[in-house]
Amino acid sequence: CGIVGYIGTQDTKEILLRGLEKLEYRGYDSAGIAVVNGKGVRVFKEKGRIAALRNIVDQDTTGSVGIGHTRWATHGVPNRVNAHPHQSHTARFTLVHNGVIENYEHLKRNFLSEHSFISDTDTEVIVQMIEAFVVEGMTVEEAFRTTLKNLKGSYAIALLDQDDPDVIYVAKNKSPLLVGLGEDCNVVASDAMAMLQVTDTFVELMDEEIVIVTKDSTTIKDLDGNVIIRNPFVAEIDASDIEKGTYPHYMLKEIDEQPFVIRNIIQQYQNEDGNLKLEESIRQAMKDTDRIYIVACGTSYHAGLVGKQFIEKMAGIPVEVHIASEFCYNMPLLSKKPLFIFISQSGETADSRAVLVQVKKMGYKALTLTNVPGSTLSREADYTLPLYAGPEIAVASTKAYIAQLAVLAILAVDTARAQGLSLDFEPLKELGIVANAIETLCDNKDEMKKIADEFLSTHHNAFFLGRGIDFYVCLEGALKLKEISYIQAEGFAGGELKHGPIALIEKDTPVVALSTQKQLDLNIRGNVKEVVARGANPCIISMEGMENEGDRFTIPAVHEMLTPLVSVVPMQLISYYAALHRGCDVDKPRNLAKSVTVE
Ligand code: G6P
Repeated sequence: CGIVGYIGTQDTKEILLRGLEKLEYRGYDSAGIAVVNGKGVRVFKEKGRIAALRNIVDQDTTGSVGIGHTRWATHGVPNRVNAHPHQSHTARFTLVHNGVIENYEHLKRNFLSEHSFISDTDTEVIVQMIEAFVVEGMTVEEAFRTTLKNLKGSYAIALLDQDDPDVIYVAKNKSPLLVGLGEDCNVVASDAMAMLQVTDTFVELMDEEIVIVTKDSTTIKDLDGNVIIRNPFVAEIDASDIEKGTYPHYMLKEIDEQPFVIRNIIQQYQNEDGNLKLEESIRQAMKDTDRIYIVACGTSYHAGLVGKQFIEKMAGIPVEVHIASEFCYNMPLLSKKPLFIFISQSGETADSRAVLVQVKKMGYKALTLTNVPGSTLSREADYTLPLYAGPEIAVASTKAYIAQLAVLAILAVDTARAQGLSLDFEPLKELGIVANAIETLCDNKDEMKKIADEFLSTHHNAFFLGRGIDFYVCLEGALKLKEISYIQAEGFAGGELKHGPIALIEKDTPVVALSTQKQLDLNIRGNVKEVVARGANPCIISMEGMENEGDRFTIPAVHEMLTPLVSVVPMQLISYYAALHRGCDVDKPRNLAKSVTVE
């Protein structure tokens, strides 16, 4: 979910709506805003996208303070009633919340047993409690802080008091939140992008802090009311990067940007002599560790699987790769000198952050690879390696994935060199070849479209087969396809097929097979024969120099270590066109959010 707030002299409702449009990547199953003026509070909520909300917001709504929310449902189905903002019984208080209140049932029983609730959300408890404490005689700020002290879980909250339209009460714990400082106004937002329209100057909030925001001031306090002083920072985001330009979808634009992303990474990670440039402290941390634990979710997890190959093969350090949501309660036995690497496009994923908090408590060092320097995972880790991919807006990750791979390769080579290992691999030169190869693929979109149309668009399932490093790319290819086209797609290791998945093969089942590794080529082609013998319709993607009769598509040759950066591109494009053909919402697939800030 994403939240915004505005207090100032401009058109509040419009600023809130524009802010929410920028936050839609965090969830888009329902949305709402509340605006307060001298006459009281007006609340508008709607199921669906911000566009749907826009349609119902009364154009005459004026007010100098307001809050807004775009939702990714956790508690309660996505409908208008469960959409935020939520209000207290008398409607004096109105609140938006991102996060999950784990003890809301307990709070209902203990503090609010006499109250009835309108929605099924955990959030409504917060606003009812605040009002209950105010009725008991507390000031609003006391009631706010007392309520927060009773909450277990994660929250980014903005609260309006109808009786005091000169203030927004804000609080944060675990969920991201920034306060922005404008001219004649102040703002609140889950991320800086949402409020770049008003200001580029923000103040970061820490967990268990509140902020009293007025038009001219922002006062940060801890939950006991002690004032905290913190300097603002300037967010370095170019607003024009966030526009779609002439592209029909962000996803297509972001796929096309991939060669530039790689070239940008080459530039950012080299010094004047053309050598790799990495912070000495990161180099040292890599040298000091006896085992690396990569922790990530979704596409970033898939990048981690490839990263393991890079680091183990080039730098000779053992690497484990873990899904963040499993790690906290399924922690492996750690080595003596572990180093944690968090991979996260957004730097805000709650599952990953939960692990980071835990390992920092245990006293271990952490490095974050993220596209958003200044994000929570970047701030809270000891070191950050930026991805330099530029804002990624489409929910399905493309350019951030290849950026993650490129930076992981650079890290692996740098570590190998720091250890005095000699490598027959010039990463920056090889990445240059990769950038050209991706460009060639992006110029070949018609072919991918044909494959998608002929091969996938009428099917309900599809398989992706690969061996070795290709297997990890197949996992990512299958994820892309299922995320945006809703075709059930699974990536399988070629050799594992016979141990179960082959039972799923029927006449015409689409099977995409990837072969970019010479030593595995015969094996994977053998697996293709196995599925074809059972009726499957194969689509073999091989690499230049390894092509065979019957291959559907050949990717330009690149160093065999770096093939994932290139072989994933046809998969991204095929998924894109399959989704398009099926009339799916490519950039905002159902049920998903780009940045999931709840565990
Ligand atoms: C969400 C997105 C995925 C993404 C995952 C991890 O589930 O829908 O596309 O891979 O989060 O996000 P992160 O920002 O941590 O890389």
